[in-house]
Amino acid sequence: MNGLRLLGTGRALPEKALDNDAMTQYVDTSDEWITTRTGIRRRYFCAENETTTTLAIAAAQRALENAGLDPQAIDCLLVATSSGEYVMPSTACMVHKALSLREDIPAMDVGAACAGFLYAVETARALLIARGGRHALVIGAEQMSSLLDMSDRNTCVLFGDGAGAAVFSLEADAEYESVCGVRGDMAIRVGGPRREQPMAMDGQSVFRFAVSAIPQCVQQLLGKAGLALEDVDWVVCHQANQRIIDASVRRLGVPAEKFYKNLDRYANTSAASIPIALDELREQGGLATGMRIIMVGFGGGLTWSGIMMRV
Ligand code: UT7
Repeated sequence: MNGLRLLGTGRALPEKALDNDAMTQYVDTSDEWITTRTGIRRRYFCAENETTTTLAIAAAQRALENAGLDPQAIDCLLVATSSGEYVMPSTACMVHKALSLREDIPAMDVGAACAGFLYAVETARALLIARGGRHALVIGAEQMSSLLDMSDRNTCVLFGDGAGAAVFSLEADAEYESVCGVRGDMAIRVGGPRREQPMAMDGQSVFRFAVSAIPQCVQQLLGKAGLALEDVDWVVCHQANQRIIDASVRRLGVPAEKFYKNLDRYANTSAASIPIALDELREQGGLATGMRIIMVGFGGGLTWSGIMMRV
């Protein structure tokens, strides 16, 4: 199996953090409501000099440094985002320039909402196999605050800005499984014909979708690999809501400690949430070489994706 191995990670957050009390300046809400319904306590919002691109570049630089890899060795660059500054050029093109990567490589954005990072990882693997090359730089970066209606309490308290990046190498014998899927649905939407509509969301239908998507992805990955959840060291799923993770833990009947959680500190950073979590785990010494991890993303589209690999 041509699988990917994780060589390095990095993350970048805006300087400004807002706790739940700070959200009361925008909408009729409370720390008590946000904490009990979501588990979120804090989020970061970009200041004027910070964007999806600046965060993506900083996270990528740290991931390359952590991997100990010369940027010239990168054979493929993908940026998962729904909040790039420009339609053209892509965020990937701007990161490519800032890092002075080689010109003979593909660099593009991937749009699959909160499942975007794992869609991008799987796309990077396919590109490396199809075109040749060994190293992929995959970034999840979002300025979700640029998409929010700050007068809509159903959405504005849930999201945050940030970026995470990971460097992978393609290895002929690396253990690797992936699943992904899509079901067209308008439960979360942003944009419209003139890109004028901020985010709107049917939270309860997304909640119902999420609590079935996580266990389904985990079971499918384990089934493909012929493994049990006891064989897996960490499940790193998209960080949207503590209650979604708790419900998935109950459905799977596993110890809650196996699921990494940091949504209390960052809120939902969409495509950035999984690589930010990976970077934190690695920094804390939680990702020893040889450990087996499952990652699961789910979100607008609706989209979902899961990847199992050894680090
Ligand atoms: O990456 C995927 C992105 N999306 C998600 O992850 C969303 C998944 N869904 C959820 O996380 C939850 O459905 C929410 C957190 C969005 C909402 O939680 P809920 O338990 O489903 O609440 P609800 O929609 O049933 O709303 C309950 C009440 C409503 O008031 P009434 O109609 O019962 O009087 C809302 O107006 O809570 C009210 N409410 C708020 N109150 C204070 C909604 N947002 C807020 C708020 N502060 N921020």
